[in-house]
Amino acid sequence: MSKKLFAVLSLLIVASLVLSACGGGAKESGTVKIGLLAPLSGQVPTFGLSNREGAELAVKEWNEKGGVLGKKIELIVADSQCAPDPAVNAANKLIDQDGVRLIVGETCSSASIPVAEIVNQKKVLQISPTSTNPLVTVDDNGVTRPYTFRACFIDPFQGLVMAKFASNKGYKTAFVMFDQGNDYVRGLAEAFEKAFTELGGTVVGKESYTSTDTDFSAILTKVAESKAEVLFLPDYYNIVNLVGAQAKDKGVTAVMMGGDGWDSSDLDVKAADGGFFANHYYPGDTRPIVQQWLKAYGAAYKDAQGNPKVPDTLGTLAYDAVNLLIAAIEKAGSDDPTKVAEALKNIKWEAVSGTITFDDQHNPIKSAAVIGVANGTKAFVESVTP
Ligand code: PHE
Repeated sequence: MSKKLFAVLSLLIVASLVLSACGGGAKESGTVKIGLLAPLSGQVPTFGLSNREGAELAVKEWNEKGGVLGKKIELIVADSQCAPDPAVNAANKLIDQDGVRLIVGETCSSASIPVAEIVNQKKVLQISPTSTNPLVTVDDNGVTRPYTFRACFIDPFQGLVMAKFASNKGYKTAFVMFDQGNDYVRGLAEAFEKAFTELGGTVVGKESYTSTDTDFSAILTKVAESKAEVLFLPDYYNIVNLVGAQAKDKGVTAVMMGGDGWDSSDLDVKAADGGFFANHYYPGDTRPIVQQWLKAYGAAYKDAQGNPKVPDTLGTLAYDAVNLLIAAIEKAGSDDPTKVAEALKNIKWEAVSGTITFDDQHNPIKSAAVIGVANGTKAFVESVTP
């Protein structure tokens, strides 16, 4: 090969390398990537679908206004199943294969806690929309996890809200049923028991079950025998549907109460009839931001009959969490997770579910709504501020 040809070829190779590096680089930095961990399959699929709808709508709205930092936002959704192992695998896939450094999720505390371990090792930012167990944002030693935040209140608060609600209704006795293996359910059961006892109530019985149980008759016999006025069942809607129906069959008269996990379009309103649960949001809230959100969601998504869908808590909080994250990116002027975490610490963001500012454990201070199930529908009962 002549020297000249060699020089030309070398130049071409160098030039193409530079070009492809720029091309690749431009592609890399062309979008801001957000990963969403959503339980699209598993025990509670309505949670995942709502998560995805809320998150996609938030991203769409920002992109229509030009994105963030002058770039389009790209949402990458991974199915995390509301369970520890699938959630960890989905988070690792988002981080290691998709190059995501900013994650919204998971919904369920049992999934968000192990994900929090990973993201804090890898310095990836995590905002859980709805995981309410305290150990999502703090580790076992009570140290705040620097890269994990949430968009919701925590279980000691919603446990207190329901205990006060029960006590204000004049109820003095409660029976608590809980899934021992579920961090959220166990934690909320404990929070309720503590608060109810402090308010002068008595927990007259307590029984645990596992997430695969389908026959609750042995426990429900004990509930009936205990004559408890309240049956506290802080589980997800799938279990509430089973327990509620079996309790009614057995003639259990205790008033069923629970937490945010009841919120689903698939909650069986017959099985849960007469019950009450704590929640993060309710569609009847007259604040303009809520009404605007209902309109936007209803325009974007229709139910099986073609009617505008009403967003549930999971859709709403996913929308809030994605908006909060993008607002923090904007505030930080960067999508670097460390800088975004810094920006989140003293952000003030008006979300649909209430104004978000963080305490030093990365928990927002927000109100809860108590929702009642009666006459085939769910209705707002009262709002409780911390
Ligand atoms: N709070 C639940 C958890 O931590 C998740 C949840 C929130 C489910 C709101 C439904 C509605 O596991």
